[in-house]
Formats: sequence, structure tokens, C-alpha cells
Amino acid sequence: MTTPIAAILLLLVPVLLLPRGRVDGYRPVIIVHGLFDGPKQFQKMVLFIKKTHPGTEVTVVDMYNHMSSLKPLWKQVQGFHLAIEPIMMKALDGVHMLCFSQGGLICRALLSTMPNHNIHTFIALSSPLAGQYGDTDYLQRVFPSFMKTTVFRVCYNRVGQKVSICQYWNDPHHRSSYLKNNKFLPLLNGDTPHSKLKCKENFLRIKKLVLIGGPDDGVITPWQSSHFGFYDSKEHVVEMRNQEFYRNDTFGLKTLSARGDLSLCLRAGVKHIHWHSNFTVFTDCIENWLT
Ligand SMILES: *[C@@H]1O[C@H](CO)[C@@H](O)[C@H](O)[C@H]1NC(C)=O
Ligand SMILES: *[C@@H]1O[C@H](CO)[C@@H](O)[C@H](O)[C@H]1NC(C)=O
Repeated sequence: MTTPIAAILLLLVPVLLLPRGRVDGYRPVIIVHGLFDGPKQFQKMVLFIKKTHPGTEVTVVDMYNHMSSLKPLWKQVQGFHLAIEPIMMKALDGVHMLCFSQGGLICRALLSTMPNHNIHTFIALSSPLAGQYGDTDYLQRVFPSFMKTTVFRVCYNRVGQKVSICQYWNDPHHRSSYLKNNKFLPLLNGDTPHSKLKCKENFLRIKKLVLIGGPDDGVITPWQSSHFGFYDSKEHVVEMRNQEFYRNDTFGLKTLSARGDLSLCLRAGVKHIHWHSNFTVFTDCIENWLT
């Protein structure tokens, strides 16, 4: 005994049950580059996505490339915000963000400060999420006359904070200066209190967080920072689950994990600049999330 209305509802059921992202194909993918690079370095990644998921709209944000990537991070965040907002507004089912290295921190800051964002999946590809403390070519290029043990002197003050890498420089031997003078990472991690940012609420709007990294990276130091691990004051690595920001759930990481929406992908044999051109990494750690 079905009334016409019930019959119509029954007809609608299969439509309503379709996975929403699939109705008009794959969700758009926005790529944010890292330090000293730009869209050109992501051509292979764009090809991988278009080949495996035909019709995906992929945007590599063409902004703060190469030397400009050293600009202060909150300023870059503003620029990226303006660039990605129109893409988000057109995408009713949300967008995915794939962010490499320093770009991962820019993306975290974006999704922590955009109250209405519709970022579905955030993939941080070899990103120093818990900070950086290591002697690398990158550090040499920026501060040729400093070592990891002395960089805190240039970084932890107002002038230093105008250079992007200083804003995630996390010297485990100068913790109080880091907390006091670093104007970026401690805010994101909720290590220092702040009233204006609704980081946690905004962060938890994402549906999935995917962290990719590995021991042969060679740049991210410690490499576990790509998985939210970091050094303690003795330079022993403390893994994510034992970090204070995780235990206290200061920005929502623990909640996300309890929700089952945190996925870690660890791969050996990948150097820092090869993460985004390695097809095995793409198929193992990235492809399945970009639906
Ligand atoms: C974590 O919680 C402890 C105990 O409540 C508190 O003393 C500490 O300041 C908190 N740390 C952070 C980073 O929120
Ligand atoms: C690609 O990634 C795989 C692991 O997923 C690794 O074994 C291999 O060495 C990588 N190749 C390059 C060139 O990075």
C-alpha cells in the first residue's frame, strides 16, 4: 500500500544514497608547494592525479614561489586564502588539499583560521608539522653562517620571525624562547594560549588527515615531525601520541584520531624532493583519498 508520495520517496532513495563526491566526479584538488619551489615541481603529481582520476580539477597555487617562499608565513597564509577561497566556493562537496613540506604548515594555518572551509581531506606530504631542527642545505642557503645550534639567535626575535623557516624552527634546547618568540608554530599547536584563533573547531572540520613521511627524507629533521613527532630536550624523538599537544588535544589531533580520521603513511627510500614525483608513494599513500 504505497501512496504516491511514498512512491516518489522510494524513487529518490537510490539518488540520496549515492556518495556525494561522485555525483559530479572527483573533488577538486588544491596543491600547495614547499620552500624554494613552485608549480613546476608538481607537474608529475598533477599528471598522476589526472591519469588515475580523469576529470579532476587540480590547481597548484602559483604564489610565493622560490625565494618568495621565505616570506613570513601568516602573510603567505593570507595570500593562499584568497587564492583558494573561490575554488572552495565552487566545490559544493568540498576540496582536497595536498600540501608539501613548508606548504603543509601553510595549509594547517589555513584550515585553522578559515571558519567555513570545506576541506575534506588534508594530505601533509613530508611536512615539518611539529617543527624543524637540523643542519640541512636549506638552512645553509638561508643562514650560511649559522648551524642548528646557533640559529635560534637569529630566529627567535622580531626580525627573524620575518623569515618563514624561523617560524617553524623548533630548537629543543631553547624551549622558552621558542614559546615566547615564535609567532607561528606554537600558536598552531596550541602550545601558547591565544584567544582569537578558533584553531580546534576549524581544524576538526576536515574529514580526514593523511600524514606522509619517512626516515630517508634527509631534510625534515627529525623525520618524525612529518608524523607530529619531535625531539625532547635530550634530542630523543617523542612520538605523536606522547606529545603534550596530542595528550591535551590542544588543536584536535587526538579527537581526529579517536574519530578514526587520521591516517599515517610511512615510506622508506624516499628523499625529500622525490615525494611528489614518486608513483609508488602516490598509489600507496595518496590516490585512494582523492575521491
Ligand atoms: C596540558 O595539560 C596540563 C595539565 O592540565 C597543563 O599543565 C599544560 O599546561 C597543558 N599543556 C598545553 C600545551 O596545553
Ligand atoms: C619511491 O618510493 C618507494 C617507497 O614507496 C621507495 O622504495 C623508492 O626508493 C622511491 N623511489 C624514489 C626515486 O624516490
